[in-house]
Amino acid sequence: MKKAIYPGSFDPVTYGHLDVIHRASTMFDELVVSVLNNKAKSPLFSAEERVKMLQEVTKDIGNIKITSFSGLLIDYAKEIDVHIAIRGLRAITDFEYELQIAQTNRKLSGGELDTVFLTTSLEYAYLSSSSVKEIASFGGDVSQCVPPFVMEKIYKRCQEING
Ligand code: PNS
Repeated sequence: MKKAIYPGSFDPVTYGHLDVIHRASTMFDELVVSVLNNKAKSPLFSAEERVKMLQEVTKDIGNIKITSFSGLLIDYAKEIDVHIAIRGLRAITDFEYELQIAQTNRKLSGGELDTVFLTTSLEYAYLSSSSVKEIASFGGDVSQCVPPFVMEKIYKRCQEING
């Protein structure tokens, strides 16, 4: 059985992530989408909230599992017996950063974890979770960036923070 892991912060999941998830799910028997539980990054949503949002927006995809992990990706991948990580590439700036991480993971895992890159569909190439959060925090329209379920959660959270 061919398994892959798509790790990320997903704070929150965007249409860009969903595009990668849909495409990767057709390439593997099982796709584990895993949220990095990293409190140091001060996320807008807790890991549990991010997992719930991902579960909701991927509920129509059969071969998908949503989890969270902390620590090193190579350790978690070993624990769940996965040897391929998926990452999306939007632009050349992503590539420089991603290449370094992919090579580090390959080296650290003794060749056990390889990375497969999917280029983001052009219509989502501009999207990032950070810009979605910034736009929403100023009351801007993020309906083209995230699914309605996620949009509701962001506006609610921004309201809670902004008062
Ligand atoms: O969505 P993001 O924030 O770009 O995802 C980055 C992520 C979670 C894939 C990356 O930070 C990661 O794998 N972190 C876990 C810690 C780790 O394994 N670091 C080693 C690579 S330098």
